[in-house]
Amino acid sequence: MRVLGIETSCDETGVALYDSDRGLIGQAVYSQIELHAAYGGVVPELASRDHVRKLLPLLQEVLEQAGVRPREIDGVAYTAGPGLVGALLVGAGVGRSLAWVWQKPAVGVHHMEGHLLAPLLEEPAPSFPFVALLVSGGHTQLVEVEAVGRYRLLGESVDDAAGEAFDKTAKILDLPYPGGPELARLAERGDPGRYRFPRPMTDRPGLDFSFSGLKTYTLNALREELAARDDREQTRADVARAFEEAVVDTLVIKCRRAVREMRVGTLVLAGGVSANRRLRERMERMMRDEGGRAYYPRPALCTDNGAMIAFAGYQRLAAGQHEPLAFSARPRWPM
Ligand code: KG4
Ligand code: ZN
Repeated sequence: MRVLGIETSCDETGVALYDSDRGLIGQAVYSQIELHAAYGGVVPELASRDHVRKLLPLLQEVLEQAGVRPREIDGVAYTAGPGLVGALLVGAGVGRSLAWVWQKPAVGVHHMEGHLLAPLLEEPAPSFPFVALLVSGGHTQLVEVEAVGRYRLLGESVDDAAGEAFDKTAKILDLPYPGGPELARLAERGDPGRYRFPRPMTDRPGLDFSFSGLKTYTLNALREELAARDDREQTRADVARAFEEAVVDTLVIKCRRAVREMRVGTLVLAGGVSANRRLRERMERMMRDEGGRAYYPRPALCTDNGAMIAFAGYQRLAAGQHEPLAFSARPRWPM
């Protein structure tokens, strides 16, 4: 079975083809970073228009890459939410229209389920059951995964998502959009021993997170330190490092707690923040110490992409799930 996946929930246009025998046979992602950089963040209306502009050329590119003709596609999957409503409607509209023209089934996919299943596209793939840490710009969740479609929420952020905290703290540090990867780069030059920031909500039981206080803590620490010292550049790097350490350490503490409580030996990382090098290293070490293993996809499958939507869509279509021709987008959608 071959499934076309379309992702347009935010500022990346992603298209991919998943073949159930051969795996990923074509994929392309176009990032709108340059378009939004001047505004310091994603401008929803510009995002929608740019998806319109790029979606069909990307589709063409992926079909050529895979050497597949439209009639050889068995179904279409698109991100139906959560995300920016205008951006979602572009992908949903195009996905549904193609399915109608091709007379093939179509299915709307939950963006976070896409992220959650992306690690299964890699070799070796993690086996069920596992605990998944979903860390993106909009979500921070710990999920117990028994099988495709069988998810139980163990904990989540009560305020900012981890990626959102990275992005907001990056702004405080005067770093350009998109902040998360820029902050991680600055932190590489930072001294891990100079500052120690708090690990929110780790001193009490439970698997929820809170990252908004850490951002405020960073703002205050930076102001005080910059006022007191003249090594500005090193101080910024040291503060970035302390922030990253605090977020990563907090995530590690909660993941360790979750795999122990669930008695599973497999931890899966997914979502944009799981591209973070420190996070991957620390989780790998923690799981080794626990006698288990951590899995995470290559960076291009951590951040938004069409491949994860094609794969999640394949799982749904193969299980006989698809939808009538009407479509909707859900800017908010609990999984
Ligand atoms: O999954 P994603 O591409 O989009 C959403 O579904 O939100 O995640 C984007 C988030 C952004 O907040 C971005 O700053 C963060 O992932 N991110 C990172 C890194 N790469 C992306 N955060 C920290 N370190 C990174 N290397
Ligand atoms: Zn995402």
